[in-house]
Amino acid sequence: MDRYSKMKTILVTGGAGYIGSHVCKELAARGYRPITYDSLVNGHREAVRWGPFEHGDVRDRRRLDEVISRYRPEAAIIYELRLLGQSVAGGSITAITSAAASLCSRR
Ligand SMILES: NC(=O)c1ccc[n+]([C@@H]2O[C@H](COP(=O)([O-])OP(=O)(O)OC[C@H]3O[C@@H](n4cnc5c(N)ncnc54)[C@H](O)[C@@H]3O)[C@@H](O)[C@H]2O)c1
Repeated sequence: MDRYSKMKTILVTGGAGYIGSHVCKELAARGYRPITYDSLVNGHREAVRWGPFEHGDVRDRRRLDEVISRYRPEAAIIYELRLLGQSVAGGSITAITSAAASLCSRR
């Protein structure tokens, strides 16, 4: 049994960014296991210090499903809202909400 197995897992998209990395730190301090999912388009790999890092774009539904299946998070926190707000036509909101829906349906 690894040290994470009893911790509640939270997927944090944009977790390598300024706000997301602080959220991950706070989650870890409260006993959660934050999984950072980030494309690194604007974030930094070295900012991911509080849990596993998974490289990916929120618009990539297949990659999101892969990460969700691997870690089976309890919840997701989405931290590139500026990007999401600008890219509705690109499908980000669709991808993340449908991935979240499938997460809930599997629980
Ligand atoms: N920094 C602030 O003081 C502040 C204040 C209020 C609101 N906000 C809002 O909070 C959000 C995050 O701000 P921030 O300062 O942490 O920004 P940030 O640029 O530091 O972090 C955003 C993260 O999202 C990642 N990202 C961008 N596009 C992605 C994609 N397609 N797929 C996966 N990951 C992607 C980036 O690589 C980066 O790590 C923004 O919406 C911002 O407008 C920030």
